Amino acid sequence: MSEEKSSRHWRRARVLINSEALTNNLGRVRDYSPRSQVMPVIKANAYGHGMLAAATALDSADMFAVAMPEEAFALRASGCTKPLLVLHGFYCVDELYKFASLKISTVIHQPQQLDALLKSDLASPVDAWLKVDTGMHRLGIPADETEDYFARLRNSSNVARVYIMSHFANADDPDNKLNNSQLECFLKVTNDIDVDCSLANSAAIIGMPRSHFEVVRPGIMLYGSSPFADVTADELGLQAVMQFETELIAIKQLKAGDAVGYGSTYVAERDMTMGIVAAGYADGYPRHARNGTPVWLNGQRCELLGRVSMDSISIDLTGVDASAGDRVVLWGRELCVDEVAAASESIAYELLCNAGAAYFSLRE
Ligand SMILES: Cc1ncc(COP(=O)(O)O)c(C=O)c1O
Repeated sequence: MSEEKSSRHWRRARVLINSEALTNNLGRVRDYSPRSQVMPVIKANAYGHGMLAAATALDSADMFAVAMPEEAFALRASGCTKPLLVLHGFYCVDELYKFASLKISTVIHQPQQLDALLKSDLASPVDAWLKVDTGMHRLGIPADETEDYFARLRNSSNVARVYIMSHFANADDPDNKLNNSQLECFLKVTNDIDVDCSLANSAAIIGMPRSHFEVVRPGIMLYGSSPFADVTADELGLQAVMQFETELIAIKQLKAGDAVGYGSTYVAERDMTMGIVAAGYADGYPRHARNGTPVWLNGQRCELLGRVSMDSISIDLTGVDASAGDRVVLWGRELCVDEVAAASESIAYELLCNAGAAYFSLRE
């Protein structure tokens, strides 16, 4: 667990990062896809975990993916020498020139990028990852134009290597028909081309071995969350990387009929003991967490009571031996973030990003 002790943090809630868990989870990716190269997705500050620290902990990976040029530039500025891929590609030509000088690879997902790349005069050629839309209908060129784009990229002196990639829309739902349809489309358009390919995200790494190809792109599983609703991270051998903790700051007695918090949405059915915990939505705790969302304290799971406030939450302490100052785990080793996400009409991706963003920005 690491926490920078030198910088001041303005809040009680803290995020601790377990880099050994990241390394363990990378090992699980390699177990699932032993013949593929691994490109961890460390965009959005490594899903809230800290991009530079994550890149260091994942040093044995083959390459990294980020979403935006600025993220790749920050990695290079920090001394990262790994191959880097920018998933959005370049937004303007200046960035393309910077990619060439910093040896950053670009996705090409639309005609404007292809034109700009072919027309440029780069001092050294860049690797280009041609992104094909196989059915997600987000970024990507039409599948039936793959061969044409590929040929134009391969014949350009501005391009070193060309790869082909696509992305699944529903890999977390193994029964979804679109999964196979996307895979078949990808196979069809790449079948006659001698090229290294990438398709699989975490869910496909675990559930769709035929989608592994030469490079896999794990994100959420590296951070210790299960991509599937009905399989736990523990069952997949994944360990929590983010520990989101704070403290119990007050203990109060409620009488039957007392209502708790904003909107008085929880009304005590009996006399009970309640605890106030120093974390709220300002710290990235999900505001939509329901009554009953689990919170861990002194070896026990307690239940959230009422609405989440900006700086505090209330929990049921009936039968729990607790004192003000006790450590409270909002998610982490003792309580999987997936459980909190499921109780909050959200996903672990969002919870991790928000807690990490709040923690790393609320520091001096
Ligand atoms: C293009 C692309 N590949 C891979 C990933 C990793 O996905 P996951 O976190 O589900 O493994 C993402 C994440 O959003 C992505 O956008």
